[in-house]
Amino acid sequence: MENAITVALAKGRLAEKSVELLEKCGVKCKHILEPSRKLVFFDESGEYRFIFVKPSDVPTYVEYGVADIGVVGKDTILEEDRNIYELLDLNMAKCRLCIAGYADHETRRKTSDLKVATKYVNVARKYFEQKGQNVEIIPLHGSIELGPIIKLSDVILDIVESGKTLEENDLTVLEEICKISARLVVNKVSLKTKAETIKPLVKRMSEIIKEG
Ligand code: PRP
Repeated sequence: MENAITVALAKGRLAEKSVELLEKCGVKCKHILEPSRKLVFFDESGEYRFIFVKPSDVPTYVEYGVADIGVVGKDTILEEDRNIYELLDLNMAKCRLCIAGYADHETRRKTSDLKVATKYVNVARKYFEQKGQNVEIIPLHGSIELGPIIKLSDVILDIVESGKTLEENDLTVLEEICKISARLVVNKVSLKTKAETIKPLVKRMSEIIKEG
């Protein structure tokens, strides 16, 4: 247990899928999904230590090396822009990062600068800078779709998975920024010092992904 590899898993929608993938790789860890207030878990072999953290914190834990590896969405990787290796596209938890709003948002707009509500403020800043468009970015932490509905913003920048949330609120995708999926991220030092554990796991994961 002392030399265990620490794995940071994103709480929420990715948790179950991450554990499923690890189980397929032979890491016996499904018990960590059982309801509990514990924050640190081990797999049956004691070779892996797991921590469940907020998705946006996964890249931070991995950059600082307190987690050797992590599973997190590309959206979070783009937003956090941490000094970590992104080793594998896990081909799961697929969605799109989009600008969304009312189809006629241009005619509804009251101000010259577009108001954009989002939890991806860094992604939004870069995206609109590249387009050469002046915008006002309004940071929110959840229920982003409320932005246009209650006239806090003209549009939102958010992930769209099934599209149901937009549809049920009469909103629509206006622009697609990029496709998103879960990624395996690794601490740069750990990849060298713990290669004997990390590399076989990465290899097994990529085989599983190829098998579909
Ligand atoms: C995410 C995202 C959208 C929704 C998209 O929110 O911010 O609101 O999922 O999914 P859909 O296209 O399948 O409807 P999440 O459920 O993570 O909660 P949040 O509002 O707290 O961010």
